[in-house]
Amino acid sequence: TRSFSLAVIPGDGIGPEVISEATRVLDEVARAHDVTFRQTPYVLGAEHYLETGEVLPDETLAEIRGHDAILLGAIGGKPGDPRLPAGLLERSLLLRLRFELDHYVNLRPTKTYSQVDSPLRNPGDVDFVVVREGTEGPYVGNGGRFRADTPHEVATEVSLNTAFGVERVVRDAFARAQARRKKLTLVHKTNVLVHSGNLWSRIVAAVAPEFPDVTVDYLHVDAATIFMVTDPARFDVIVTDNLFGDILTDLAGAISGGIGLAASGNINPDRTAPSMFEPVHGSAPDIAGQGIADPTAAIGSVALLLDHLGVPEAAAQIDRAIAADISARTGKRTTKEVGEAIAARVAGDVAGE
Ligand code: NAD
Ligand code: IPM
Ligand code: MN
Repeated sequence: TRSFSLAVIPGDGIGPEVISEATRVLDEVARAHDVTFRQTPYVLGAEHYLETGEVLPDETLAEIRGHDAILLGAIGGKPGDPRLPAGLLERSLLLRLRFELDHYVNLRPTKTYSQVDSPLRNPGDVDFVVVREGTEGPYVGNGGRFRADTPHEVATEVSLNTAFGVERVVRDAFARAQARRKKLTLVHKTNVLVHSGNLWSRIVAAVAPEFPDVTVDYLHVDAATIFMVTDPARFDVIVTDNLFGDILTDLAGAISGGIGLAASGNINPDRTAPSMFEPVHGSAPDIAGQGIADPTAAIGSVALLLDHLGVPEAAAQIDRAIAADISARTGKRTTKEVGEAIAARVAGDVAGE
């Protein structure tokens, strides 16, 4: 029996709703594959902040770091709550985890399934993965307000791109392309963001000879949004900056049949700290508490987690159960109904083996 420790951060809004279903499915596959997960829940997020004034204490971060992996639901309070400073939870909880645990590969796969309810009439055979840089770009917090609250206020958010940071994520993306359909698309905005664009382009060109089988192309991010709608099947691996990757992957979720299907992993490929798995979506305050959020993204994130921990058979079993569930969808179901249906398919798959 292999044993893993898992820090679970359900978070806010629909986070706890979808995480209940994700751990239901995890428990089911773990049983079948003779692995155990010691799960430690961490109460963090808007509610916790409003009660205690704490966002992510150093000791809590140190404890979380001691686990083999992290499963996170979503964080984010009610919109317009005056007690929650803008960006506090996002920056000091979620991004702090990604930065401190060096999650430089933010892996966001997209697939379409037959029968899926995509807003595209004919999405085609879509199967791509966005490798979103996770520790740099405009997310670093390198900015400020100057002459604040005067008519001459200046606000900056300086995008930070290092050769080290770009090279490591680009190399990871090449390796993923090599193991897939051997096509890598760099998405940037080199026609305007000339300094960082130059760095990204040069590094892609410099690493390319190490992966001679991989074909490389380039799209400006604005044009990439066109192709993601008109011809998403053209993509295999996309490598891109932190902010472009954020935007593109919500779009990717939408075309694949809904943001409730989009799973992600914040990966530390060097394994110097635990990786963190979470749905791409947020706390969805507009539907929180109703029990109607789609837990598929959270469940798919468990599959990514199992893959990362070296239990690919268990991951594949979840992926098969998700694909079968999506293909059989009819009408609206509750969060729990979807979770139970996927867990039952996992159990059935085990029995049928
Ligand atoms: P959101 O992803 O929470 O919601 C966008 C839309 O998608 C909403 O209409 C929502 O109802 C719908 N949606 C999201 N998840 C769904 C699901 N599983 N099933 C069905 N519908 C779903 O994005 P937002 O409204 O921009 O952000 C809300 C809060 O979440 C903000 O505070 C934001 O900062 C935070 N956020 C957190 C994370 C995270 O924790 N990783 C990610 C994104 C946003
Ligand atoms: C996501 C979210 C986060 C991001 C926010 C909440 C910090 O939108 O995980 O996609 O921008 O990365
Ligand atoms: Mn996002």
